[in-house]
Amino acid sequence: ATSQSYDYIVVGGGTSGLVLANRLSEDPGVSVLVVEAGSSVLNNVNVTDPNRYSMAFDTKLDWAYESVNQSFGGGPQVLRAGRALGGSSAINGMAYVRAQDVQVDAWEAIGNDGWTWETLFPYYLKSENFTIPAQTQVDAGATFESAEHGFQGPLRTAFPPMNATGELTPLINETLHALGIPWNRDINGGRMRGFSIYPWTLDGEIRHDAARAYYWPFANRANLHVLLDTRVNRILWAQPSNTTTDELTASGVEISLANTTSHIVAKKEVILSAGVLRSPALLELSGVGNPRILEAYGIPVMIDLPTVGENLQDQMNTLMTASGENIVTGGRTVTFATAQDIFGTTTASVAAALYAQLPAYAHQMATASHDAMPAEALLRLFHVQHDLIFKQNVPVAEIIFKPAGSDTTTINAGYWGLLPYARGSVHIASASPAANPSINPNYGLLPWDVQLQNAIARFIRSVFNTDPLRSFIKEETLPGLAAVPGNASDSVWTDWLKHNYASNFHPVGTTAMLPRSMGGVVNPHMKVYGTANVRVVDNSIHPFQLCGHPVSNLYAIAERAADLIKGDMKG
Ligand code: FDA
Repeated sequence: ATSQSYDYIVVGGGTSGLVLANRLSEDPGVSVLVVEAGSSVLNNVNVTDPNRYSMAFDTKLDWAYESVNQSFGGGPQVLRAGRALGGSSAINGMAYVRAQDVQVDAWEAIGNDGWTWETLFPYYLKSENFTIPAQTQVDAGATFESAEHGFQGPLRTAFPPMNATGELTPLINETLHALGIPWNRDINGGRMRGFSIYPWTLDGEIRHDAARAYYWPFANRANLHVLLDTRVNRILWAQPSNTTTDELTASGVEISLANTTSHIVAKKEVILSAGVLRSPALLELSGVGNPRILEAYGIPVMIDLPTVGENLQDQMNTLMTASGENIVTGGRTVTFATAQDIFGTTTASVAAALYAQLPAYAHQMATASHDAMPAEALLRLFHVQHDLIFKQNVPVAEIIFKPAGSDTTTINAGYWGLLPYARGSVHIASASPAANPSINPNYGLLPWDVQLQNAIARFIRSVFNTDPLRSFIKEETLPGLAAVPGNASDSVWTDWLKHNYASNFHPVGTTAMLPRSMGGVVNPHMKVYGTANVRVVDNSIHPFQLCGHPVSNLYAIAERAADLIKGDMKG
């Protein structure tokens, strides 16, 4: 049974939302409601079985958002996102891979007081319950540093079942070693460069998604309620008690369950955790956003905050393959490479050429946002990103080498540039809360993003052509030398890329945590500017892309957000 009023309403029972609901309801005197558009997937085998990745795609567990046509490559792209208790953590690839330390420090440097690797690190540990690898896994190559892991948190992380190294892992290890890239004993310690095997969000042989970790073991708390199959339509605002108050107070939310619409009261706060493609749309439906957009759909402007939905940043995922003479055995590996690894002796000139382009990039992206984002703010952010890449040596490339599986003689090298410069947007395309938003990631819009993706492809080709891997490989099969010859020019690679990239499913940034003057939507306590009691806590708040994979960072960020909220309440 649910009552009609709660202290906190969490919108979206996904990865971040369930962390908040759990921590806020630790105090039995505080009531918390989670409203989730999807259903429970506790016993859905396409969720629980780690070998069934992708089986949930295009089912009712997947929002399967479609972007607008992209100018690079033409057609639309599909951006997947989970629709279930557990959100995207219920359908994702389960990689547990954190950020590089200095990237989190950069969050503070651009105006977010208190956000550094050092302040976030205790929350990585707090969220995690790491399973020490068994001897068979150690024999198969698993390494780790105890000090980098938590052992008492709700989220189980573990190496996947590994009985033997197989051929591929040592082959790639030796080959990368020859190219100067070392084995990384633990990529979760804030230093990501190197080759490694990584933990998954796994409990034994069952996916540990956010619901299994943060909700089900606590489901009997009397003060924690979940409404499933229920959509939040918009935030409701209290009538201003006097006209001098310039902050708006949310009084609750409007929800729809089947065909019934009703209201629920929030006594303290409304927290949006509906994901990067939905939280900004909910703000717009509630009158918070760019007047140009709200007025087009007849929505009264409550807060003029034009950067809501801007700053969308996703990566381009591309696949290269090679065929071996024999059956390829082994597991899933990861390689993180820096600009120096990828661009070699040309790194300094690549860095200088990119630097010279940044004012033009900032101008182009400001224009793409209809000047919602100030070009000066973008330029400052772009300089920080340039510094991270070329001075602080944050990895720019991630490559997943693994046996293809279905085709037993094929090696897959899935890859993506980690730090593209393009910024896109997510905005409502209708006044109806049931409608999907309009999504434009602007993939490949800027030359650097394409140059990086092409340079990683050439690097992978050099890995294929270096011993000992070289003698193991019969031929490169994707793109293959017929499609992209050995001496191919940039434009040949670019043409191939145009038709061979997909969303990396790591979109971030649409309600960025930044000073308001720099285009921010939330402050360092994740409160939406202009509101007294509305926050966004999910992938939308990232001012920049973080290397690694989102959920490890999100669990820690949401843990820290819960403490900030508790602190604000005491204060
Ligand atoms: P999340 O998507 O988890 O939650 C949002 C929730 O809000 C959903 O449950 C949704 O149904 C609900 N919702 C939306 N609108 C609503 C409304 N109006 N009313 C009520 N509820 C609403 N990351 C990683 O670390 N390792 C990996 O291997 C992968 N692999 C991967 C594969 C695939 C296919 C995807 C789609 C994603 C990944 N990711 C990943 C990314 C990662 O899973 C993702 O970034 C986070 O789970 C996002 O967490 P959030 O809390 O931002 O939203």
